[in-house]
Amino acid sequence: MGVLSGKEIVLGVTGGIAAYKACEIVRELRTEGANVHVILTASGAQFITPLTLQTLSKNPVVMDLWNLISESEIGHISLAQRAHLLLIAPATGNIIGKIRSGIADDMLSTVVMATTAPVVIAPSMNTQMYESAAVRENIDVLRSRGFRFVEPDEGELACGTVGPGRLAPVGKIVEMARIVLAEKILQGKKVVVSAGPTVESIDPVRFLSNRASGKMGFSLARVALRFGADVTLVTGPTALENPHFMKTVRVRTAEEMHKAVERESPDADAVVMCAAVADFRAAKVAPAKIKKNEGGWKLDLSPTVDILEELGRNKGRRVLVGFAAETGDIAQNAVAKMRKKNLDAIVANDVSRTDIGFESDDNEVRIFFSDGEVRELPLATKEGIAVGVWLALHGKLFAR
Ligand code: CTP
Repeated sequence: MGVLSGKEIVLGVTGGIAAYKACEIVRELRTEGANVHVILTASGAQFITPLTLQTLSKNPVVMDLWNLISESEIGHISLAQRAHLLLIAPATGNIIGKIRSGIADDMLSTVVMATTAPVVIAPSMNTQMYESAAVRENIDVLRSRGFRFVEPDEGELACGTVGPGRLAPVGKIVEMARIVLAEKILQGKKVVVSAGPTVESIDPVRFLSNRASGKMGFSLARVALRFGADVTLVTGPTALENPHFMKTVRVRTAEEMHKAVERESPDADAVVMCAAVADFRAAKVAPAKIKKNEGGWKLDLSPTVDILEELGRNKGRRVLVGFAAETGDIAQNAVAKMRKKNLDAIVANDVSRTDIGFESDDNEVRIFFSDGEVRELPLATKEGIAVGVWLALHGKLFAR
């Protein structure tokens, strides 16, 4: 079950052209099990109809503070109290100014004033308005009061100008909701997560690599961030986009990954090596494309540095966690790797199964701890497995 499941979220929709994107926000939040109550401002209703938002949210859309029916059925105080999160997307310069100044002259601004729930604001407006002294100052003041902002994107705006002001992508806004609502079990911890394959060149067009997609490592990094950790993701080439709100270091080879992990991890509390690092690289990378010749081709390989083993030699107080992709004798191989590399735990999965592992969205793993304890995480999405891994690591390794 995801972070948003069962949460009461009040979504404030104000008068900007991006108001139509609120539909998708409602849909995403509901898909993850949240109960969404939309408050639509009068100017918001110039851009999108209450009927649309009501149909999508499956709750009455609240507009008027003085509407006797909505007051008796929902009530601004009850909405303010019920909310686990108040999200304003899109937020105009006007609503930001009202919140900063303590003006409560409509339903949305009144609920913001009356709530003790966290408030996330996703601004969207013309670039000049966004960069105006008043809006900049209002945002700074609200930040210092604990309001969270999802910065707008840069790009061509509906008014024709190019610059910051376009509402942040829906996925980023929803990710901020997850971050704000997740338990903070990793608060104060710095973690480094590696992901994806590495790619070792043979010549300018050919390379050695493997089937790792990066999905498991990216999920581990995202979930750690939601749990409050300061996360650095070091990833080999993957088709996945950088996770939101996270330092992501893109590398190509095992050697580059080694350097990046060494650079990022001296003060880390935990290093989780989920990357499928190449064990071998071409002994010599040919500067020009190798021509095919009759009778085959022998490629000389040299071993790469074992990054985890290096970290394990100089472990310090860091928690070190490996991943073992196995096709047989899982327990025995995984535990042998854990001992050899001086790890605290190793997460093992059976990559011979086609329903889990590599490109799949799902996984099923066993976590072996150095004290002999074994935890099984049954079949789940990779995000679900990531939650289970961090809960297990937190309970066993960080609570000491
Ligand atoms: N690993 C690493 N550096 C390498 C190879 C692997 O840090 N050069 C890490 C992986 O990120 C993983 C763990 O070591 O967390 C286990 O990797 P795996 O490839 O399964 O094990 P190996 O030790 O390489 O053994 P083998 O390939 O023989 O199974």
